[in-house]
Amino acid sequence: MTQDNESKDKSSGQPLPEGGPQANALLAAIVESSDDAIISKDLDGTIMSWNAAAERIFGYTPEEIIGHSILTLIPADLQDEEKTIIARLRNGERIEHFETTRVAKSGKLLSLSLTISPVRDASGKVVGASKIARDISERREFERRLVETEKIVATGRMAATIAHEINNPLEAVVNLIYLARLSPTVNDQVKEYLRLAEQEIERVSLIARQTLGYFRETAMPVDFPVSVLLEEVLTVYGAKLAYSGIDVHRDYHPSRPLTMRKGELTQLFSNLVANAIDAMPQGGDLSVSVEPEGESPAEGVNVLMADTGTGISPELLEKIFEPFFTTKEQRGTGIGLWLSRQFVEEHRGSIAVVSNTDAEDHGTTFRIFLPYENGLAQNVAPGGRGNA
Ligand SMILES: Nc1ncnc2c1ncn2[C@@H]1O[C@H](COP(=O)(O)OP(=O)(O)OP(=O)(O)O)[C@@H](O)[C@H]1O
Ligand SMILES: [Mg+2]
Repeated sequence: MTQDNESKDKSSGQPLPEGGPQANALLAAIVESSDDAIISKDLDGTIMSWNAAAERIFGYTPEEIIGHSILTLIPADLQDEEKTIIARLRNGERIEHFETTRVAKSGKLLSLSLTISPVRDASGKVVGASKIARDISERREFERRLVETEKIVATGRMAATIAHEINNPLEAVVNLIYLARLSPTVNDQVKEYLRLAEQEIERVSLIARQTLGYFRETAMPVDFPVSVLLEEVLTVYGAKLAYSGIDVHRDYHPSRPLTMRKGELTQLFSNLVANAIDAMPQGGDLSVSVEPEGESPAEGVNVLMADTGTGISPELLEKIFEPFFTTKEQRGTGIGLWLSRQFVEEHRGSIAVVSNTDAEDHGTTFRIFLPYENGLAQNVAPGGRGNA
């Protein structure tokens, strides 16, 4: 490729402001050191100048590309863009932050943001264009991954809801089969059929739990201290709490272990902590307390989780337990509290909230009451196939 444009200024191709050779050299140096590709072309689309960043981004040396058509850089299916660009430039228009795709020497497609300005001669006539191209491939890739991640998260949460719904009837069927097998009138052949049926249902249940990513415990409930469970959750969120500038205050009164579905209560408290973190982007205080309620032997435990976050206005407070109600747009799915309430009810407990949005005194407190007599101890799965 030869360069036949000796007369053109290789650095910028534009009429430079008055100020003599020193000013020209300064401008040329600025263009050369730019991180963005700076390219100039005439109105026929012939490339006239090409800086170092253009070489880095597109892979052509100035010797290889100057004098050639700008179409070299445009993918075949986008070549019509050039006509539109030239027409707009002839009208003296500037094109800003036009996000498009160009092709490098290696054939690799590049995501670029282009700003193209007309270049005029001394009489003001448009004679060409200068183009600044910023490589946004990385940003595009990042955005693409982000959207993908969000979709996965949203799908995951949806799946969790479905799994939850599927597992309830499945659990019932498993129990019915178990009872049928115990019946003295059932002969060995039928018992064998029932055993196989039970096995298959176990499999469905496992698939639902695994592929739908939500562990709805069909396993045996466990006796576990609520304060220890809270500590486990706070440990998981420890780094995030610290990073968000949130101080955690604990007030654990001794209470005896509760028979619980541990996975469910873990989800419940995790969502409360995650919500509190979201409500305190500028930091704040999270107070967690566990206290026994009622006479001895205590009726149950009260867990209080109080944040000094934004608070929830009375209109929204009515809606927070509704499925898919969220104020977090893309980030939230709005099933956290909805599921939380179901989990609490399965433990025969209750969940209540008070919130304040006053400028002086704002924050939200969730109160969860979990009774010791929750029916789970009798509900131990047949055959004792439980784990902690
Ligand atoms: N501690 C809190 N402070 C302020 N607002 C809260 C708090 N907890 C919940 N909310 C409000 O209630 C809404 C519903 O909460 P929920 O946990 O159900 O869903 P989410 O957090 O938006 O999404 P998800 O938990 O599904 O990711 C939130 O979007 C938020 O507006
Ligand atoms: Mg939530």
